[in-house]
Amino acid sequence: MEKIRITGTDLAVSPLSLGTVNYGTKTSEKEAFYQMDAYLDAGGNFIDTASVYGCFPPTAEMHASEKVVGRWLKARNAYDKIVISTKGGHPLANDESFTIRLKRDELLSDVDKSLQNLGTDVIDMYFLHRDDPSMPVGEVMETLEEIKNKGKIRNYGFSNWTLKRAVEAQAYCRLNGLSGFTMNQLMWSLAHITIDEIADKTLVAMDKDTYQWHAENHLSAMAYRSVAKGYFEKRRNGAPMRGDLITTYKDPLNDEIYSALLSLHNETGISMTALSLLYFISQPFPAVAIASFTNDTQLSEGLSVLKMDASEPVISQIHALRRDLI
Ligand SMILES: NC(=O)c1ccc[n+]([C@@H]2O[C@H](COP(=O)([O-])OP(=O)(O)OC[C@H]3O[C@@H](n4cnc5c(N)ncnc54)[C@H](OP(=O)(O)O)[C@@H]3O)[C@@H](O)[C@H]2O)c1
Repeated sequence: MEKIRITGTDLAVSPLSLGTVNYGTKTSEKEAFYQMDAYLDAGGNFIDTASVYGCFPPTAEMHASEKVVGRWLKARNAYDKIVISTKGGHPLANDESFTIRLKRDELLSDVDKSLQNLGTDVIDMYFLHRDDPSMPVGEVMETLEEIKNKGKIRNYGFSNWTLKRAVEAQAYCRLNGLSGFTMNQLMWSLAHITIDEIADKTLVAMDKDTYQWHAENHLSAMAYRSVAKGYFEKRRNGAPMRGDLITTYKDPLNDEIYSALLSLHNETGISMTALSLLYFISQPFPAVAIASFTNDTQLSEGLSVLKMDASEPVISQIHALRRDLI
């Protein structure tokens, strides 16, 4: 599968990014190394982590995900082979008030900690993990630009920002000569999600207006929850589903998508998960899926996409399934 050029950057990345939210906690370091080796072998070059992964609930090794990724990058001497994305500005693990931290000193300190955890001098793509809409957008963007100018990050993006705030931020950057956001990391998959059923109200999902804005501006998107936590495959193979999976994806459109996907799976032999990931190929703007895996079968089903052809005839059929977005 061809690499995807992130607009406004010199980064060319795999259409599948490896998610590491569970590294050093639910996924052992040994297993994490195995996954990253397999991902690199399969041609993958984009790993996603965050300062806060491995901190909720507070753990023995805080920031475990970044640290495990850092130890692997060092052990494999893979700094030149992997594009790293990480995130900061998230509330601290022990903060019951869940205060988002986008002040200058907070972001400067988060970036420095991430650089240390990852064992690198520069982060390729740095995301704000959340937004604090009470802060003037210009103040946040000036801090990001300052960190970029210091050479600590190459590019910056946003995650879980409303469209209104993202538009405001980009307008501020245009007006004031700042480089601006180059990527949006948001919740998005082939399955339609009922966002009201998600307990964390600070998360933001793809909707029709955001999709159109991405297309008009050719702004790159990076989708988390991209395989909908295995919803389609679990539904097919009858695996037990957590209650929140049933409530968040219970929707007549998902019933339709499931039936169509099952037919495609039966016709082509491509796994439900790989079909879900093909949804992100050839979107009207650069799109990357981030997925995480908890066993070898899931890993090999996910990685199989990296070996596929972007001209797979099924892709246009899969695109049409999320008709609520187009
Ligand atoms: N920016 C943000 O706010 C944000 C938020 C969340 C995540 N992320 C990033 O996005 C990455 C992915 O997010 P995610 O883990 O929430 O979503 P996801 O990739 O959609 O879901 C991963 C889960 O789906 C299941 N799965 C994967 N492949 C499967 C298969 N072939 N068959 C059946 N089930 C399968 C597994 O769950 P089971 O273990 O239950 O089988 C796995 O843990 C994270 O690692 C992180 O890097 C970012």
